Amino acid sequence: MAGIVEKLNPNKTSAVSFKRDGQRGSKRGRTVPISEVTLSEVKEDAVRFGLATDVAYQMNAGKEASIFVAYHKKHPIILKAFRLWQTSQVKKSKGYFAPGRMQILAAKEFDVLLGCFKAGMNVPTPIGRVGYYLTQRFLGDGLEPAPQLRNVKVEDPETVLDQILDDYLIMYRDVNYVHGDLSAYNILWWKNKPWIIDMPQAYHVGPWSDMKRVVMLLRRDIVNVLSYFKKYGISKDPDYIVKVFLSEFVPHNLRNYDEDIAVSIDGGN
Ligand SMILES: Nc1ncnc2c1ncn2[C@@H]1O[C@H](COP(=O)(O)OP(=O)(O)OP(=O)(O)O)[C@@H](O)[C@H]1O
Ligand SMILES: [Mg+2]
Repeated sequence: MAGIVEKLNPNKTSAVSFKRDGQRGSKRGRTVPISEVTLSEVKEDAVRFGLATDVAYQMNAGKEASIFVAYHKKHPIILKAFRLWQTSQVKKSKGYFAPGRMQILAAKEFDVLLGCFKAGMNVPTPIGRVGYYLTQRFLGDGLEPAPQLRNVKVEDPETVLDQILDDYLIMYRDVNYVHGDLSAYNILWWKNKPWIIDMPQAYHVGPWSDMKRVVMLLRRDIVNVLSYFKKYGISKDPDYIVKVFLSEFVPHNLRNYDEDIAVSIDGGN
């Protein structure tokens, strides 16, 4: 019988498997067998690491992580495991899915989430992180997880859009990250409010960042969010919103990032 992971991740060529194949010098687009990490393995790890007392079920299998509903005593929590794919090739070649990279992603998501939480955003409270596992607050009622915004029709869309942009501005200006994958998929709707989730790919905005990349990611996130609100007849200019964000924060040394400066490396005299 096909496991939930197989069902959610059919063995088709994805951007990731494409890249993975390329790194191994394999034929373009060839897929590789995936051996699944079982619920009982995840549970054993989570209990051993003190992250959870039980793991109830797997809720989602994403690109790089799997989401489990777990318990800490009687409280449901979310356990995100940045480890799913193990192939003999990966073990040998330290390929794209090497465990080291997974640990970095877990640590990064935990740290960014903590920064966002401390800055006052509506995000699931981060709880713990060990290896490639992290735990966070379960958003939902009872054992029913909160829906993704894309599956909800909100009553006051203008306010909800403002709430999302206000929160995103906090993330950008105060925590100094662009989300990098923001959309109505990675925003949950709970307690009549939007909650931003899923941050392992966030990109830091600091003195050594590539500002052009920052602006590209920021604009893409804003376009994605705005596209959800089109069905309510809301149409806003993404470039204006990007401008507002940039007027709130650009690292001091990068204020002139969009000037192309020709630098001669000949040193001619
Ligand atoms: N704290 C949470 N409370 C309730 N549900 C959650 C929580 N975190 C994640 N989920 C659910 O699990 C889904 C996947 O979570 P998330 O986006 O963090 O993982 P992902 O592996 O990066 O997923 P994908 O690759 O599909 O974007 C979410 O869209 C949401 O439905
Ligand atoms: Mg996601």
